[in-house]
Amino acid sequence: MAETNENRSSLPVDEYISHHRGNYEAFHKMSLEKPDEFWNEHANIIDWYSKWDKVLDDSNPPFFRWFTNGKLNVTYNALDRHLKSHRRNKAAFIWVGESGKEKIVTYHGLLKRVNAFAKALQDAGLKKGDKIAIYMPMIIEATVAMLGAARIGVAFTLVFSGFGANALADRITDCGAKIVVTADGANRGGKLIDLKKIVDEAVELASTVEEVIVVRNTENKVEMVEGRDYWYHEITADQNVFVEPERMDSNDALFILYTSGTTGKPKGVVHGNGGYSVWVANTLKWAFNPQEDDRWWCAADIGWVTGHSYIVFAPLLLGLTSVIYEGAINYPEPDRMWDIIERYGVNLLYTSPTAIRMLMRYGDLYPAKHDLDSLRVLGTVGEPINPAAWQWYFKTIGKSRCPIVDTYWQTETGGFIISPATQLGVGSLKPGSATFPMPGIDPVILDEAGKELGDNTKGFIAIKRPWPGLMLGLNNDPERYKSVYFSKFPGKYYNGDYAMRDSDGYYWLLGRADEVIKVSGHRIGTIEIEDALVSMKEVAESAVFGKPDAVKGEAVVAFVITKEGVTADKALIEKLKKGIRETMGPILVPDEIHFVKAVPKTRSGKIMRRVVKAVYTGQIPGDVSTLENEASVAEIQEAINILRKQSEK
Ligand code: PRX
Repeated sequence: MAETNENRSSLPVDEYISHHRGNYEAFHKMSLEKPDEFWNEHANIIDWYSKWDKVLDDSNPPFFRWFTNGKLNVTYNALDRHLKSHRRNKAAFIWVGESGKEKIVTYHGLLKRVNAFAKALQDAGLKKGDKIAIYMPMIIEATVAMLGAARIGVAFTLVFSGFGANALADRITDCGAKIVVTADGANRGGKLIDLKKIVDEAVELASTVEEVIVVRNTENKVEMVEGRDYWYHEITADQNVFVEPERMDSNDALFILYTSGTTGKPKGVVHGNGGYSVWVANTLKWAFNPQEDDRWWCAADIGWVTGHSYIVFAPLLLGLTSVIYEGAINYPEPDRMWDIIERYGVNLLYTSPTAIRMLMRYGDLYPAKHDLDSLRVLGTVGEPINPAAWQWYFKTIGKSRCPIVDTYWQTETGGFIISPATQLGVGSLKPGSATFPMPGIDPVILDEAGKELGDNTKGFIAIKRPWPGLMLGLNNDPERYKSVYFSKFPGKYYNGDYAMRDSDGYYWLLGRADEVIKVSGHRIGTIEIEDALVSMKEVAESAVFGKPDAVKGEAVVAFVITKEGVTADKALIEKLKKGIRETMGPILVPDEIHFVKAVPKTRSGKIMRRVVKAVYTGQIPGDVSTLENEASVAEIQEAINILRKQSEK
């Protein structure tokens, strides 16, 4: 293990923020010992049309069903019920554009927009059980589209706008979306991204789409296809409509979010209405302890689960005011984030280690230009936070008085699973540790054989029992759901991370144990990039891995074998990068592409990315001798030699 707990915990004690220990332990204990009692109470964080028969139906593992037969509507909980209270005219969102433009939408105003959009979907013939895809920048209308769909029981899939046409088409097709909602463009880093053009290409590839709805967000001129494309502002012009919220079953689908794995195409993670809502609302409350008048800023992109759960659903369910920002956090100046915090008096900030590392590089002068006194809790998500970034966030941004809430979770977990619970009181924090499990979470550290490991030993982190935020399954693929998450350690949920528990019971997340990489906190399967490369006519084979990067966490490196007769030169590198950008999107473009004659493989043809990475980073390639037969070892050694010779050139 490269970074051990020893060197982490040897930081001086005054580097830790001390918190009252509160009742976290008792609370967590009760959640595990009396789960029915616990969740019967905490499921009331939302309103139900009718209550559940059973807290948890575990009769058909691993298809766990929470709050069975409970009926609810998420948008009723996120909007209508707040209108009956003092929150009616409270800001739900303060939207800030890259140019500095702002829009404030109240709960009342948001409900009107959601109803108008839901009505437009109904007018298009959509009803409960149908699907839509959303491909949008960080604008209020993206949240309206999500909620408008949820209001009438239409499940949505929101696709990150950094994905290209093929990636979008794959997702549309897999879920069978009938409508795509997009914008005429997105603003990012001073550039205009032509989203509509990408949607047009994707729709050509996906046969399920009947209609495209386009939001006017920029001045970009777009072509509208007669009879297929509609302007959002035209079809939602009547804002004085009321759409009755559909009474959804707790275990009906709310959304499908595609995420990367180690094999095949991205997986469509399905989240339901009941358990998911209960989970995201409670976890936000426990971890960040938001107060009624707080301003919450989750600076993630809405295209990732963090945006779904903690820009849209949890804050609205709790009736909070959120800042939502469309643009790059270092544009036009590196103090953009600090400027927004000061301007809007942000109290709770939630961002990623990558963002922190990037902003840290600009130095302390930028945050020093701003009054950051409104901040009370600082959160982080997406990848392990290195202690140096933690310290900078804690001291320079939080002035050593704001706890750092390092939230560990995944698309599949719905919400936080390991995180400090500042509302409950967790005791001292340790820089780089996500601390303790959330209530209801029962983690364990295992070795390869599934044997439970003791403290201070790195192993695989698994969860011993289901919790309400756990996905319902994978879209159209129950077998894959079972095999990906519940087969390595039967009866337990496992999703590819290394972790360790120290002798004080703190959990340390130690990165991915599989061939998924985290680039700027974005989850990418190396297989997806390899597939994109080999789908180009010049490429015969490729091996992709992540190399350590001081800001992004990991950067993508690709080793490529070209087909016979292809000239492997700089021009080809550019061509391959452009090809990936156009089909799969900028997010999958490798930072480096190297040409080789062979890549290390096992005899069965499996590419040994681990070995390529080890050779590349100058480390000894590990346990190659444990491979099943000598021939494959020789094959690998040969490939390593080739790689070495290449790198010496
Ligand atoms: O490896 C873990 C890492 O991100 C993975 C999940 O990625 P995704 O589904 O895209 O969700 C990201 C936002 C929740 C995990 O398997 N990860 C996430 N949060 C942390 C983390 N690793 C360490 N510490 C975290 N706080």
